[in-house]
Amino acid sequence: MASLTIRKLDEGVKTYLRLRSAQNRRSVEEEVRVILRELIEGREEPLTGSAAPATLSPAPTPQRTSALAEASVTLIIGGGIAAFKSLDLIRRLKERRIEVRCVLTQAAQQFVTPLSVSALSHERVYTDLFDPQSEFDAGHIRLARDCDLIIVAPATADLMAKMANGHADDLASAILLATNRKILIAPAMNPLMWSNSATRRNVAQLGRDGVTFIGPNSGEMAEAGEAGVGRMSEAIEIATAAERLLRPPVPRPLAGKRILITAGPTHEPIDPVRYIANRSSGKQGFAIAAAAQAAGADVILVSGPVDLDDPAGVAVKHVESARNMLEQVEASLPVDIAIFAAAVADWRVANAGEQKLKKTSAGMPPLQLVENPDILATISKMKDKRPPLVIGFAAETEHLIDNAKAKLKRKGCDWIVANDVSPATGVMGGDRNTVHLLTRNEGDIAVDSWPVMTKDQVATELVAHIAKSLANKPLEPAK
Ligand code: CTP
Repeated sequence: MASLTIRKLDEGVKTYLRLRSAQNRRSVEEEVRVILRELIEGREEPLTGSAAPATLSPAPTPQRTSALAEASVTLIIGGGIAAFKSLDLIRRLKERRIEVRCVLTQAAQQFVTPLSVSALSHERVYTDLFDPQSEFDAGHIRLARDCDLIIVAPATADLMAKMANGHADDLASAILLATNRKILIAPAMNPLMWSNSATRRNVAQLGRDGVTFIGPNSGEMAEAGEAGVGRMSEAIEIATAAERLLRPPVPRPLAGKRILITAGPTHEPIDPVRYIANRSSGKQGFAIAAAAQAAGADVILVSGPVDLDDPAGVAVKHVESARNMLEQVEASLPVDIAIFAAAVADWRVANAGEQKLKKTSAGMPPLQLVENPDILATISKMKDKRPPLVIGFAAETEHLIDNAKAKLKRKGCDWIVANDVSPATGVMGGDRNTVHLLTRNEGDIAVDSWPVMTKDQVATELVAHIAKSLANKPLEPAK
């Protein structure tokens, strides 16, 4: 593989590289690697000597150098016998798709070499604050900021003292002082150093400064015959702690709950080719299904005909008519929570033709309508299988709150989400909704009016209300 000496490039190319690398907060050497990679992937125009941009625009978010990496870490390796474990730590981080850039203190180089660290991290290793190659574009600032987390492992007593007191006389301490990223440190030292009151003060100070600690563990020391607290945590423990800081677990307040949701319109056949329908798009019900799934619920979505993709991770039952919808809803019970967002057709054609209705001299065929089953009311009034929390919607064009209150009582559900579906609101088929949440409150009905939101936001808010209400008053498990 040919090596490249930046010094020997044309002045124009050098100027371009300097400006571009400074703009992207990378070293020139790294910038060249990024350009080469982009060229191979066909994303970069070939360079010309006069390609230097006239001005520098604000620095964009630094790009990850690995297509697979999802996060990046600056790993500061301090000088201690535990430094050898940091070689394994690099491997553990990389297998978690975390990109690692390493900094070695002077003392660390007594225990591990830059060559072995670089071979494992596949990155250049940084050792000097006054390295002309990386410092002409403030390399320590890049190492401090162009990452999602800084790990110090091993964190020696000396390095911790420097951190606690704000020293910046070498590359490691300058990075730690210049960063605004989270810091995770894995202390490693002799038990007497760990218990020394100076170290205790530094630990307390670093805790107040927001630094996260992993370890130290207790066990045998490298020094013969010594044991106690001071061993650096194992690489796997540090990698797990790093992962927790980088990818905090998403709260799943509805985990273990089974939720049934109806959505969309229903189609009521007139004959094999014609039907009665309404303007519902199904967007609100689908958004609730996705939000409940994201909150950890086991979601069943019974949907009328819509032009939407099934939400990921949700069991979707596609139906046509109100009667099909009721069948599928009943077959999905028991559930913990049922949300009826469908705009079910109130009537169906009693005498739906088996064949296509033809125009005849007798004129228009009369359509006799009969009422459809009210799915919400049927489920709300069930004796055995009634879900502990039943939520309906009220689509109104006038007297919104009064009609919604009456609907809550008439249908026997627990909550109603009322919305104005007058054509002027654009709710039917649109992406926004203005809703009012009606809940039963000690014999009365409380009304909580929400500001105009997207249907996704309404869904998230509704799921948050459900989670909050479950936290206050846990549901009886579904039978
Ligand atoms: N609903 C239902 N089955 C029906 C009609 C309505 O499950 N046959 C549900 C809707 O999914 C919604 C609630 O009942 O949760 C209210 O629906 P809405 O269309 O607002 O009211 P209707 O019951 O149809 O009454 P009206 O047309 O008189 O307003």
